[in-house]
Amino acid sequence: MSEPLVRVEHLTRVFTSGFISGFQIKAVDDVSFNIREGEIISLVGESGSGKTTIGRIILRLLPPTSGRILFKGEDIMKFNKKQLKSYYKQVQAVFQDPFASFNPVYPVDRAFDMIFDSFFPDLSHGEREELIAKALEDVGLNPDEVLGKYPHQFSGGQLQRILIARALLVEPSLLVADEAVSMLDASTRIDVLNLLGDVRDRLGTSVLFVTHDLALGYYISDTTLIMYRGRLVEFGDTERVFKNPLHPYTRMLLESVPDLNVKWEFKGEIRPEAEERSVYEIGGCNYAPRCPFATEKCWKVRPQVVEVEKNHWVACHLHGGE
Ligand SMILES: Nc1ncnc2c1ncn2[C@@H]1O[C@H](COP(=O)(O)OP(=O)(O)O)[C@@H](O)[C@H]1O
Ligand code: SF4
Ligand SMILES: [Mg+2]
Repeated sequence: MSEPLVRVEHLTRVFTSGFISGFQIKAVDDVSFNIREGEIISLVGESGSGKTTIGRIILRLLPPTSGRILFKGEDIMKFNKKQLKSYYKQVQAVFQDPFASFNPVYPVDRAFDMIFDSFFPDLSHGEREELIAKALEDVGLNPDEVLGKYPHQFSGGQLQRILIARALLVEPSLLVADEAVSMLDASTRIDVLNLLGDVRDRLGTSVLFVTHDLALGYYISDTTLIMYRGRLVEFGDTERVFKNPLHPYTRMLLESVPDLNVKWEFKGEIRPEAEERSVYEIGGCNYAPRCPFATEKCWKVRPQVVEVEKNHWVACHLHGGE
């Protein structure tokens, strides 16, 4: 098998919060996975599960506490300035709030300047405009209706398309989309999701699609990663994970998300004895405080990730996670 585009190896990130007490949170705890070329991979988990932290480490906006990210086999933390620039030409990002990415006092075209200044400084004004026009057409926008206009003249979905167009100017190998459709209304959301799929099909771009919404992950991705409190609990081929969910957390999620328009919220109960044991002190399974199947072993022994069928991994003692 060819080398993956990205290898996430034993990634861990600890944050110290609390000014004096220095309470530590393992936002990401020994997470490993690969992103193949041209693959759409969704990273799914409820708020606070560590998704954005993983995305930020991949984007080199944050260093890991331990573990590493290999891009085409190279450790991204070891990149020198030149390699880092080349990395950012290959790895682009789109975030949750499209309005926050534009300066309201300038026409939206200004958002493209940063890319040109960094990567194509020698292009003439006319050449820049030509490339912008093509990029806008590629994401289904009419350049005449976009250029020279101001952010407030667009909807969130249109602005997100413009940002995707900007990211695509450099023809990246990887697009990190962190909750990129979460703020859009349902119909625009599907349009932008389809656009991501189209970008992958046309350009072969891999997409790391970060979402709290299981149904969106199912809709768009080839591979699904389910995170719970910093750890990967189940992952693999999207079809396998959804057709044969094995981890109690994944099962609970699937039961509580009946359709695409419903935002998932935790509906289970935290058992009283669990409340007393902070999940961050647990040596065993992070899900034990919520899990109806938890045994004493679950509290003490961390379940290892096991391949239960081809391209389907689970970390749970019920499924051989010794
Ligand atoms: N800069 C930070 N300082 C302290 N804690 C942080 C910081 N960033 C994230 N965290 C904590 O790390 C955990 C994971 O956060 P995050 O990666 O943003 O999760 P998600 O994107 O899944 O909602 C949360 O408990 C969050 O409060
Ligand atoms: S390891 Fe134990 S607590 Fe964790 S999900 Fe499996 S059964 Fe539940
Ligand atoms: Mg997040």
